[in-house]
Amino acid sequence: MRSPATKLAIGLLLSVLTKYTHATCKAIPGDPGWPSVQEWATFNASLDGVLLKPPPPGGVCHPGEPNYDPALCPNVTALWTTSFPFHEDDPISNAFNNWNNDSCLPYPQAPCSGEGYPIYVVNATKPEHVQKAINFARERNIRLNVKCSGHDYLGRSVAPNSLSIWVHNMHGIELHDSFVPQRGGKNRSCIPEGLDPFTSAITFAAGDTNGDLYAAANTIGMAVPVTGGHDVCYGGYVTGAGHSILGARHGLAADLVLELTVVTPDGNIVIANSCQNRDLFWALRGGGGATFGVIVSFTLALYPDEPTDLVVTGIGPIVNNSVHFYDAAAYAFTQYPEIVDQGWAGYGFVQPSNSTVPGVGSQFYVDWFGLGRNATQLIELATPIANYINATWPNEFGVEASVFNFPSFYDFWAANTDTGSPVGVDIVIGSRLLDKTAIDNPNLASYLQRAVIPGGQLTEYMVGGPGVHNKPPSLNAVCPAWRTAYSHSVVGVGWVPFQTAMETQQLSDLNVYVEALTELAPDMGAYVNEADPFQENYHEVFWGANYPRLLAIKKGVDPCDVFWCRACVGNEGWQEVGGQLCRV
Ligand SMILES: Cc1cc2nc3c(=O)[nH]c(=O)nc-3n(C[C@H](O)[C@H](O)[C@H](O)COP(=O)(O)OP(=O)(O)OC[C@H]3O[C@@H](n4cnc5c(N)ncnc54)[C@H](O)[C@@H]3O)c2cc1C
Ligand SMILES: *[C@@H]1O[C@H](CO)[C@@H](O)[C@H](O)[C@H]1NC(C)=O
Ligand SMILES: *[C@@H]1O[C@H](CO)[C@@H](O)[C@H](O)[C@H]1NC(C)=O
Ligand SMILES: *[C@@H]1O[C@H](CO)[C@@H](O)[C@H](O)[C@H]1NC(C)=O
Ligand SMILES: *[C@@H]1O[C@H](CO)[C@@H](O)[C@H](O)[C@H]1NC(C)=O
Ligand SMILES: *[C@@H]1O[C@H](CO)[C@@H](O)[C@H](O)[C@H]1NC(C)=O
Ligand SMILES: *[C@@H]1O[C@H](CO)[C@@H](O)[C@H](O)[C@H]1NC(C)=O
Ligand SMILES: *[C@@H]1O[C@H](CO)[C@@H](O)[C@H](O)[C@H]1NC(C)=O
Ligand SMILES: *[C@@H]1O[C@H](CO)[C@@H](O)[C@H](O)[C@H]1NC(C)=O
Ligand SMILES: *[C@@H]1O[C@H](CO)[C@@H](O)[C@H](O)[C@H]1NC(C)=O
Repeated sequence: MRSPATKLAIGLLLSVLTKYTHATCKAIPGDPGWPSVQEWATFNASLDGVLLKPPPPGGVCHPGEPNYDPALCPNVTALWTTSFPFHEDDPISNAFNNWNNDSCLPYPQAPCSGEGYPIYVVNATKPEHVQKAINFARERNIRLNVKCSGHDYLGRSVAPNSLSIWVHNMHGIELHDSFVPQRGGKNRSCIPEGLDPFTSAITFAAGDTNGDLYAAANTIGMAVPVTGGHDVCYGGYVTGAGHSILGARHGLAADLVLELTVVTPDGNIVIANSCQNRDLFWALRGGGGATFGVIVSFTLALYPDEPTDLVVTGIGPIVNNSVHFYDAAAYAFTQYPEIVDQGWAGYGFVQPSNSTVPGVGSQFYVDWFGLGRNATQLIELATPIANYINATWPNEFGVEASVFNFPSFYDFWAANTDTGSPVGVDIVIGSRLLDKTAIDNPNLASYLQRAVIPGGQLTEYMVGGPGVHNKPPSLNAVCPAWRTAYSHSVVGVGWVPFQTAMETQQLSDLNVYVEALTELAPDMGAYVNEADPFQENYHEVFWGANYPRLLAIKKGVDPCDVFWCRACVGNEGWQEVGGQLCRV
């Protein structure tokens, strides 16, 4: 038996040796294994010349960077807080600075280096580009990254010292009156699980965004599941689950997938549907992006668009520093599941503040959306909530409700897509899926008080409902908690770059908020696309009972870990050491 000290010494020696030989790390520039300039040029030639070596986009503000351009610096600084048309159109930029380690902000006083960004980018326009990039990364032991819009809240579309596949410029939309997936090798139709094989459908490429798809579907009066932002890609959205206002009727975006074309870690281009590559198909619908391969083509079922009502109900204290704010907000929350069960969806917000402006400070409000519904019915559902609050805490709260009618959901959506969410900032968000038991907790008010940022907000996305709940949890890999969730409740924190004390405080506060939501719903989980990647046991939180199967599929399809990302399935074997990825 060796003594612990000897074991430690051997362990240290081993780690020094392996580090020295790089046998257990992905190659980085300067390593013997990193391809030479000539090898990169040969690779580029094999790719029709689409290989890029982009400087950090903030470099325009920094003397010494290859792209330094003092005349352009103010433009980049101004565009930095817009996703479209800036971060999404840049080969390496991403929406949130912290995932680049603030390594090149477009402010002359900030430091700048490329250390937080990928080194080479394949500006893919066809599946063969993706295939060659995956093969090169696998054969040369280079860290691989995949970016579409760069919107990811968990920083999964940026990686230092990597070769990045930028799928943003892969386009091609096709509408089908009916789409019947095929069995492999035989001309026999495949019956998709939970979907009609003869439904109308849309096939599109990895770089086509929500906005592109919905505009195409709208030409034939059909709808697709869409996010709040028109420039979000399906590569991240569908692989995470994909909630939408339409989900209450039709399910999560992942539930509507008929077929995917995928470039796998071994470099093959395969079709995955309910009849061929079934495990891969299951895993890609909810198991996360950039883990099992790169999806180059998606086919989703469409459904008819419908007239849409929007009802905004706001309730807020009309007295200063109301002491019943959380009691009333909690009461309202307990009444929402019944409304969601009737097929309505809502975005609820709890915004506490100590504003002295009556009715303007603290409030909770819900944007209720109803497809093909009669807004009068919703007002009838909401009125008893307001009446109860008024009767229980007399003269303390005011109510406002407004109704808007749109000829289609598309008209609503096109007029209201999210352009206001901040980007180009340092933020991390946290969340929890809440079921009815959680919402009915007798101490809900005190949980809300613990979970809501003073002066900030908790967003209660009520995007479950019958369309999401009526699918069997085995259908695909999305977090099973979605099937009983009434609310995806989200909080977020931010800080000023380089203010490390503030960053530490904010991240520690985020833990407190998320912990409160977790205690409220201990058996549930969280939505991987809008969640805290620093959370403990995140694999279980994001995938619950699906995790063991996902891990087995990952090991089968990617035994050499060609794909690796933060907070992703099967990432246990590696860790980031500075800017390098090494085996644990
Ligand atoms: C303004 C805004 C509104 C949003 N609204 C909603 C909403 O209503 N509902 C909702 O569910 N989510 C919403 N989200 C969250 C969104 O689902 C995630 O940010 C998602 O990760 C974005 O996917 P992306 O491909 O555009 O982003 P990226 O950051 O480019 O990629 C995200 C992840 O997917 C991987 N990836 C991208 N493309 C592919 C591909 N073709 N194959 C394999 N992996 C790929 C990346 O490597 C990364 O891991 C919103 C986000 C924003 C910024
Ligand atoms: C790849 O080749 C193209 C065309 O020759 C060239 O414009 C581009 O600069 C090359 N990329 C790199 C990284 O050298
Ligand atoms: C930069 O912004 C200015 C002012 O808006 C504009 O006139 C100019 O064309 C922009 N330059 C570039 C290169 O986009
Ligand atoms: C990437 O490719 C697209 C399509 O060919 C092209 O329009 C775009 O200019 C390229 N981007 C860069 C940065 O080279
Ligand atoms: C399957 O067979 C039908 C009729 O024989 C034919 O029209 C169709 O094109 C075939 N489909 C495929 C994918 O081969
Ligand atoms: C709230 O406080 C402000 C400032 O102290 C005061 O002017 C206002 O009258 C108060 N409003 C109510 C409803 O008490
Ligand atoms: C009002 O301020 C007090 C003291 O700072 C704080 O405890 C309380 O939570 C605040 N109320 C709201 C609704 O933000
Ligand atoms: C809307 O619902 C209300 C109450 O249920 C009903 O009285 C009214 O007739 C309905 N209107 C339409 C246009 O269906
Ligand atoms: C609240 O109740 C009072 C009676 O107690 C009534 O006068 C008032 O109109 C009610 N307010 C709302 C918004 O319903
Ligand atoms: C991020 O930046 C800090 C300070 O600038 C540095 O200490 C740290 O090593 C960097 N992290 C990575 C992953 O590069």
